[in-house]
Amino acid sequence: MDHTMHWRGEHEHEPEGNEENDPAYELLLPGEHTNTYRDRPKRPPWYKRSAYILLCAAALLFISTVLYTIDVFSGYSLRKTLSSASSNYVGSVVSHLWPEGMANRTDNWENENSKTMHALFKCLANGGCGENQTSIVLLSSPHFKDSIAGHTSGEDIWAISILLSLKEMGYTAVYAPHNSELLRTYRQYPDLVKIIISEGSDAESCFKDPQCTKTKDHPLGIPAWKMLAMHFWTGSSHPLGNQWTLSPENFPLLSPGNSKDNVYLGYSVERACKEIPIMPMDERPNQGFVYGKRLDYFFGKDFAWEGVSFVPPFPIQLVAGFSNDSSVLSPPPEGIDNMGVMPKHRFYEHLGMSRVLIGIGRPVLSPTPYDALCMGVPFINPIMHWDKKKPDDRSKWEAQHDGLKYESPPYVYNVKKGDGEGLWKAVKDALDHPIDRYIVPNMTMASLGARLGALVEKDWKSQAEQLLELRKKTGKGEVSRV
Ligand SMILES: *[C@@H]1O[C@H](CO)[C@@H](O)[C@H](O)[C@H]1NC(C)=O
Ligand SMILES: *[C@@H]1O[C@H](CO)[C@@H](O)[C@H](O)[C@H]1NC(C)=O
Ligand SMILES: *[C@@H]1O[C@H](CO)[C@@H](O)[C@H](O)[C@H]1NC(C)=O
Ligand SMILES: *[C@@H]1O[C@H](CO)[C@@H](O)[C@H](O)[C@H]1NC(C)=O
Repeated sequence: MDHTMHWRGEHEHEPEGNEENDPAYELLLPGEHTNTYRDRPKRPPWYKRSAYILLCAAALLFISTVLYTIDVFSGYSLRKTLSSASSNYVGSVVSHLWPEGMANRTDNWENENSKTMHALFKCLANGGCGENQTSIVLLSSPHFKDSIAGHTSGEDIWAISILLSLKEMGYTAVYAPHNSELLRTYRQYPDLVKIIISEGSDAESCFKDPQCTKTKDHPLGIPAWKMLAMHFWTGSSHPLGNQWTLSPENFPLLSPGNSKDNVYLGYSVERACKEIPIMPMDERPNQGFVYGKRLDYFFGKDFAWEGVSFVPPFPIQLVAGFSNDSSVLSPPPEGIDNMGVMPKHRFYEHLGMSRVLIGIGRPVLSPTPYDALCMGVPFINPIMHWDKKKPDDRSKWEAQHDGLKYESPPYVYNVKKGDGEGLWKAVKDALDHPIDRYIVPNMTMASLGARLGALVEKDWKSQAEQLLELRKKTGKGEVSRV
């Protein structure tokens, strides 16, 4: 594996996507699709709907079992034989559907789908489905399949915690990366699919494509309102706008300007983090971790501590793990011991044995500070911009990690860019006030599960109908091409 990729992916969970505030999309409803709202066509005939096909297949299976295994004319202990024989037969047939393949592997999405469908078919056949098991969520963003294959960018971390939460609530989660796979999968059981978690670009291209979106002539296509788009940054990333754009942080609160209506889903590092035992404070070396993966991050306008000496005014060893970008000819700040590129487990090891994590301005919104807090390591969060007249107004702050700007000591120390004195005071305070594991309340698995459950069960169709009404009334946003 390419080492730099490894680094990029595994060291700091840097989000992969471009940080850009997409201009709010002109709300656009292509004609064919709109028609399905306007004069809603009758539901397709029963024999065209996949859920019925599944049920009918099960019923046929059942009947043929009866005819095949029982001498109906003798009528002899019919009931008894019927139930046990048919369930045996159904059981033996079901064992051939979606076989588990590589039972011990968990990193291959197709294999995971086989396990999931096998479990679903089995519970349908024996009537033993769990509470949410017949509700299907299609995972169409490729970050889902990537995350189980071991990728760990910010988006992958986000995806895997959604997946985990769905599984914990008993939903049936099926991978269907990108639109081609999504279409094939969706048409097999459209009625059972509650929502599709996709990427903005895929939602957009599906929406524009009559071969993808649901229309009168394409009844098993995908209704735009069932697709939600994961978008790591602020702004809208969905043809139906902000209300279908999922956010990893509380952007409606943090960035009301362009994200007031985004869906705050969030994520959680709780499960993975708690698997690593926390290192007791008295066993930790007197060490602070400087958080910057590239030498480049120590220069330029996004560096929070320009002109600030990194030679600590009190005893503490500062370590970091950054690569030397060939474009940078200056040496790194004096006082930092660079351990260079580290694989993921070593990075966690060093982070977990540190007493403080010091942000330097970049990367923004990375999950790493959440990992640190969960391992009992306080975070120094540089405030990069603020209102000069109201320097304490947090709503005006732009921090390296905006998601943590409302947190306070002893967990998060928000220090303004360039304030060297403030930086070293915060480091000292962090050393003097060690913390236990800390998970931001809105980023626990329980909190994520509550938001995610509400999202899966929400009536997205009514919301889309309201949007259409609004567009018709205001004339803003295309409602029909026909
Ligand atoms: C797979 O798992 C089964 C049961 O959990 C175990 O018996 C078997 O040895 C495993 N196979 C491999 C190749 O790890
Ligand atoms: C089913 O999902 C709901 C959220 O929609 C959740 O509250 C509930 O706990 C889940 N059921 C089970 C058995 O996990
Ligand atoms: C980084 O690499 C450049 C080019 O290879 C080199 O000139 C420079 O001295 C290196 N800087 C450090 C701090 O190693
Ligand atoms: C935490 O979540 C609650 C409920 O969604 C919300 O009202 C609150 O503003 C959130 N807090 C932060 C800091 O995001």
